[in-house]
Amino acid sequence: MILAIETSCDDTCAAIMDGDRLSASIVSSQTEFHALYGGVVPEVASRHHLELVNPVIAEALEAAKVSLSEISRIAVTNRPGLIGALLVGVSTAKAIAYSLGVEFVAVSHLEGHIAANYLSPEPMEPPFVCLVASGGHTSIVMVHDYRRFDLLGQTLDDAAGEALDKGARLLGLGYPGGAEMDALAACGDPEYITFPVGLNKQGNLDFSFSGVKTALYYKLKKLGGEEIETHMADIAASYQASVVKALVGKTIAAAMANDCAQICLSGGVSANSELRRRLFEACDSQDIRLRIPPPELCTDNAAMIASAARYLSAIPFPEYLSIGAMASGGFAA
Ligand code: KG4
Ligand code: ZN
Repeated sequence: MILAIETSCDDTCAAIMDGDRLSASIVSSQTEFHALYGGVVPEVASRHHLELVNPVIAEALEAAKVSLSEISRIAVTNRPGLIGALLVGVSTAKAIAYSLGVEFVAVSHLEGHIAANYLSPEPMEPPFVCLVASGGHTSIVMVHDYRRFDLLGQTLDDAAGEALDKGARLLGLGYPGGAEMDALAACGDPEYITFPVGLNKQGNLDFSFSGVKTALYYKLKKLGGEEIETHMADIAASYQASVVKALVGKTIAAAMANDCAQICLSGGVSANSELRRRLFEACDSQDIRLRIPPPELCTDNAAMIASAARYLSAIPFPEYLSIGAMASGGFAA
C-alpha cells in the first residue's frame, strides 16, 4: 500500500495506491492565490503546502478508507520543482516513513508524468514516446520499459505551458492563460500571422519558445489597439499554432527516429484542443497509436507519483533522511 505525496509546484497532492489499484487521489490547487500575481510565487506556494499537506493526506486516507498503519511505502516527488515547495513534501514523507518504519521512495516529477500512462482506465505498456508538456516542463522521453528512459529532447528556455501563459498575458487574458487561449483560438485563423517555430531544424528534438513570445510582443506593439481588438482570436490562434507545431512535429519525429509506434501525452498542456487534434491527425497518418490520459492524470497529481513508485527501489533507513529536494534533475535519484 503506497502513500504518495506531490508538492513540486502549486498543487498539494496525496494519493493511495493498493497494489495496482488507485484508491484515492486528492489535489488541492492553489491557483486562485497565484492568479493575484499572474504566476506562481514560490514562497506563497511553500506556505500553502505547509498548511495543506497534512489535511490533504488525511483526506486521501479517508477517501481510500485506509489507516496510516496499513501503509507500507511512502513515495514523494523530490525533483525537479520549486525547492521550498518540494521540501514540504519531502520532509513530510521522511517524517511519516520514519515514524511508521516503512519504505521511502524518491520520485522524479517527470517520471511521475510518464507513469500517469500506466494507470486505468487505459493502462499503456512501454515502449512508447512520451511528450510531457506543462507549465514547468517540456520534454520528449523514450520510455523503453518501466525503469529505462532516454531523454530525447527538452526545452532550452520556457516550457510550452509557460509560453502559452505568457502569450495569453500579453493578450490581456487571465492566469493561467493556456486554457483561455485555447478557447479564444478555436474561433481564430491560425494562418493570420506566421510566428516562428524555435529550433525547427530536422533532427533537433529540443524546444525553444522564447522566440515566439518575443515575436508576439513586437507584433502587438506594431499592430496597435484597433487591429488587436478585431483580430484577437486570429492572433491567439496563430501564436498557439506555432507552439503546437513544435510539439507535434518533434514528438512525431522522435517516434519515427526510434521506430516506436506508440505515443503518450502528459502534463497540463495535453488538454489543449489544437494539440490533441493535430497530434491525432499526425499519428493517424503515420499509423502511430496515441494515448492521452484523462485530464486529472495529466495535470499535477500524486497518483502518478504512486504509479512511478511501484517500479522504483526504496532508499533504506537512515540514508533516506539525507535525501534532498532538487530544483532540477532527471530520472536517477
Ligand atoms: O501540468 P500542469 O497542471 O502543471 C504544471 O506542472 O505546470 O500544467 C499547467 C499548464 C499551464 O501552463 C496551463 O496554461 C496549461 O497547462 N494548460 C493548457 C490548457 N489547459 C491547461 N494549455 C493549453 N491549452 C489548454 N486547454
Ligand atoms: Zn507537472
